[in-house]
Formats: sequence, C-alpha cells, structure tokens
Amino acid sequence: MTLLVRNILNLRSSPSSIICRKQIYTTPRLASDMLLVHRDTRENNAKIPFQFTEANMKRIQAIVQNYPEGSQVSAISMAMDIVQRQIGWIPISAMHKVAELLSMPRMRVYEWATFYTMCKRTYRGKFNVKVCKTLPCMLRGSDIIIQAVVDATGCPVGGLSEDRMFGVDLVECQGACANAPVVVIDDDYYEDLTVCDVYNIIQTLKCGNIPPCGPQSGRFAAEPGCGLTSLLTCPPPPGYCIQEALLQNTPGGDDCNKK
Ligand code: FES
Repeated sequence: MTLLVRNILNLRSSPSSIICRKQIYTTPRLASDMLLVHRDTRENNAKIPFQFTEANMKRIQAIVQNYPEGSQVSAISMAMDIVQRQIGWIPISAMHKVAELLSMPRMRVYEWATFYTMCKRTYRGKFNVKVCKTLPCMLRGSDIIIQAVVDATGCPVGGLSEDRMFGVDLVECQGACANAPVVVIDDDYYEDLTVCDVYNIIQTLKCGNIPPCGPQSGRFAAEPGCGLTSLLTCPPPPGYCIQEALLQNTPGGDDCNKK
C-alpha cells in the first residue's frame, strides 16, 4: 500500500501530473468515524441531564409491559426511537437513561446506537434531509438531486445549515426504488423528484409548512408513469374457475365460471 501511495505521489510530481491527477478519484467525506466513536463535546456529554417527558415515560412503560419479565431489553429500539422523536437526536445521557430504564448495561445501548444508522447521535437540524444515493436512485439522477438539496438548503452534505434548520445526509436505499430518485425528510418520503421539486419542497419547509409527500410526478404510488399496463379489468369474484360441483355453495360462482 505504501509503495502504491509513493508511486502515485511520484506520478503526480512528474510533468504529466495533470493527466495523473484526473485519474485519482475521491469520495465525499461522510464522517464515518462518527458511526463508532463518541467524543465528549459541550452539547453531548454524560453530565447533561436527560429526562423523558411524562407522556413518553408512560409510552415506554406500556411498551416494556409487552415483554416477559427479564426481556425488557427488547424494548430498546422503541425507547431509542422515543428519545429521537422527543429531542430530535440521541445524546449519550439519553442512552444512559435508556440503559437505566431497561436495566441493561450501557455498553449494550452504545452497541445499538452505533449499529443502526437511523440513530442520530448528533443534532441533524430541525429537518433531516436524507438523499438516497444507491444505484437505482443514482441512475435516475441522484447526483443532481444531491447538488440541488445542498444549494437549496445551504447545507453541505454531512453538515448543518447556518440557521441549524437543515441537516443533509447521504443514505443508502430507502426501499422506494420504483419511485427513484428519493429524498426522505424526517419520516416523509418525497419521490420521483426533479431539481425543481427539490427547491419547492425546501422552500415550503422554510416557510413553515410541510409539503405533500409521495410521488411528485402526480402518479399514484408506484404505478407505471405511462398509466396502467396490466390489471386493466376488474378481477373475477371469489369462486372463479372452481369445480362445478362446488359452485352451488359459492356466492356468485355460477356467474364467474361463465366468463
Ligand atoms: S435506491 Fe433509492 S430508494 Fe432504493
């Protein structure tokens, strides 16, 4: 590896350095070290107290009761989700609170928090804008969607906008590939996006409104964009093609078999 790096450096200092430079590609820094490491900061350290609201405490107690005695640790996902919905992210003091409530070692909570990428361990803005960059979305133009999101929010990928309103992240497949390209803002999916849609959505959020989610192209869910191509007629009722001997007991069976 060292030899490879040295060769690259030698090449870059040669007269043909311009050509060589074009051959070296880098990917955007995604702060992946953040996935595993906690460093105390002024906003996130164990000395900052965290308390659940009364309503959320009742929710957690109700959820814990769904599990048999001794298995209350299974409620960890719900408890962490409730923390994130309460304050928008999961600081370390909240993890300690969850560990205390569920009678489990803190380390088990850290493991959960560093494994699941939906767990936000830093503040990601009032609106966390997640742009899918996996292959189907990439083939449908996610690169220009990412740029549009960055321009519209004024927030770099992995950062926060100056007013702390937006946090932009790149994510892997969000499970809506049939409607690529896709942007997820908090819990809402925005699909079939164009650059223009991105600007409209961000502008609406800036104005204090929540834009309608779903496909922005006007199609219903993941229907074909050019209209239906199959299932064009009403499906036959129950009893279609059933044995004749059984038809008399099947409501409407006689009619269906005539089709
Ligand atoms: S690849 Fe983007 S939603 Fe699946």
